[in-house]
Amino acid sequence: MALLKILHYPDERLHKIASPIEQVTAVTRRLIRDMAETMYAAPGVGLAATQVDVHEQIFVADVSEERNQLRVFINPKIIASSGTEECEEGCLSVPGVYENVVRSEKITVQALDEQGAAFTLEADGFLAVCIQHEIDHLHGKVFVEHLSRLKQSRIRAKIKKRQRETL
Ligand code: NI
Repeated sequence: MALLKILHYPDERLHKIASPIEQVTAVTRRLIRDMAETMYAAPGVGLAATQVDVHEQIFVADVSEERNQLRVFINPKIIASSGTEECEEGCLSVPGVYENVVRSEKITVQALDEQGAAFTLEADGFLAVCIQHEIDHLHGKVFVEHLSRLKQSRIRAKIKKRQRETL
């Protein structure tokens, strides 16, 4: 297993659109194990392949308190959604930034698991937020891009300042 390098906003590679996986292979499963290890080590509640510069439709998530309920989503698609809710989000690709984002309250998602088996999941609460956040990554969208332009430029300035300080 290996820890993977996480891209940081505003890296252009975070805007690449991920391709669907045609076949779940041993290589896919190794990537998933490395992504899970990277997510737990960070620590984070979700990690999309886009964030580790692999542009395939895969993400891992674990929103449990005990950190023992790993979920794997391959080629995820939201097939139904309802309601709206606002929740504070953060992202391993945007360290130190937490902002409220409005999303659907309930979703139904279809995906494949790490064995390539199709499943359908209904989610609400924080899991629903997490799934929508990760699917955005696969579409090349970082959560701060849901915010106003003014807020986005403030966040970029804050990140630049921090990068200068750590050089
Ligand atoms: Ni994220």
